[in-house]
Amino acid sequence: MKDIDYLIRGGIVVNSNAERKADVAIKGEKIVAITEPDIVKDAKNIIEANGCYILPGAIDTHTHFEEPFQGCVPTEDWAAGTRAASIGGTTFVFNFVIQSEGLTLEEDIANHMKRASDLSYIDFNFHGVFTDFKDLDKTLGEIKKIVDGGVSSFKEFMIYTDEGLAVDDWTLMKVMEEITKCGGILGVHAENCSIGENLAVEFANKGKIDAKYWPMVKPSFVEVEAVNRAFMIADYNKSNLYIVHTSTEGAVDLIGKYKYGNNFFLETCPHYLTFTKDRYLEDDAKYQIISPPLREKKDLEKLWEGLADGRVSFVGSDHNAYGKDSKDPGYEESGFVGVANGQPGVFEILTLMFNEGVRKGRLSMPRMVEVTSTNAAKIFGIFPQKGIIAPGSDADIVIFDPNKKETLGSKWYEEADTSFYENMEVTGFPIMTFVRGEVVAKDGKVVKKKPEGKFVPATLTPEMYRGIS
Ligand code: URP
Ligand code: ZN
Ligand code: ZN
Repeated sequence: MKDIDYLIRGGIVVNSNAERKADVAIKGEKIVAITEPDIVKDAKNIIEANGCYILPGAIDTHTHFEEPFQGCVPTEDWAAGTRAASIGGTTFVFNFVIQSEGLTLEEDIANHMKRASDLSYIDFNFHGVFTDFKDLDKTLGEIKKIVDGGVSSFKEFMIYTDEGLAVDDWTLMKVMEEITKCGGILGVHAENCSIGENLAVEFANKGKIDAKYWPMVKPSFVEVEAVNRAFMIADYNKSNLYIVHTSTEGAVDLIGKYKYGNNFFLETCPHYLTFTKDRYLEDDAKYQIISPPLREKKDLEKLWEGLADGRVSFVGSDHNAYGKDSKDPGYEESGFVGVANGQPGVFEILTLMFNEGVRKGRLSMPRMVEVTSTNAAKIFGIFPQKGIIAPGSDADIVIFDPNKKETLGSKWYEEADTSFYENMEVTGFPIMTFVRGEVVAKDGKVVKKKPEGKFVPATLTPEMYRGIS
């Protein structure tokens, strides 16, 4: 078959339901065949997988490229961020667009669309965040146009008053109701605003501003109470809802209570699956200030349990790459109060989920694929174009070597100079990443010369939502 562009042979193809020895044929942007080994003999390019895993590219459901926050602008633009993503085996991102003052969210998404189309090395969509609620009906009236334009997911914050992000419960209810009516889904940053923000003031007033206090500023119940409230509201009006960056045992327990009959999902992040609050006692603790904070061992283990049994459905990085130069002066002056929340992470998803999940016996390979790719594609409406290795799907493919040893850290990013994972040793690493049939990264380097990532419109359907866990 000389018209096959790439034949990846001798690998183990892993999808969310099974893994098997098979060869994968790619023509143009698409996968055209998955065959028993050695059936297809010819192709323009033959890649020997040598027993490595062949995975659908990871879908990062949570990135903040080019998003100013708490007085800081990330060091990395779309190009640098998505280059790092591609080396790490992430082939798609959902990036946040937080409505800027003076623009409608639709206008702001159009601006981000232009930036991403010019600079992204991987495919993308967005989660819209409304910030202007002066006229609630007018804001609600915008939702349909945005969904019809292919952006079907949104996020709202229950905290961050000073940043102009926190919404009240009524607004939250009306927004999730309308988003669902229009065929979308709302993600919620669930933290109790009054308690979380006042505890921060109380700690600061007592001079307790060292990073070691950060987990005490936002104790677990600050998240769990808000998650419960969001679930209760969404249960009342049968809204589609997911909780972003879930960090607590309590949230995992709660979803069991509400999941039946509802489209409710939990997202968690690799850092909550890797570290505990002890990370705030280390030398570089000031760089690890994120919201919610890192938690206890029991939370970490419960998140893994939830990922394995379906209560936690997918993983996003919460990538937010602020530089030391922006964090150091703020921390010097006012401790955790002065540091923009966020850390890079778009690069590490696959290797961490393999090392902390599969290698430690917490996840099977198919479930790893499900929570890093397939479920996100279904929940956010881009399945089966993305999220699966199947004939007709986009050839977003990662060849993953389970035996390759590497050291993680900020060196994998072009601009970011901090990392949760500095000097962490891993075994299992992506060695080649395809986006729509083209090799973007190989052996730890970007090989694609120019950014040709595309916006992929999302459409949520009841069929996709059936049976997601
Ligand atoms: O600490 C975090 N998570 N920073 C980014 C903003 C957000 O809440 O996602
Ligand atoms: Zn958040
Ligand atoms: Zn975030």
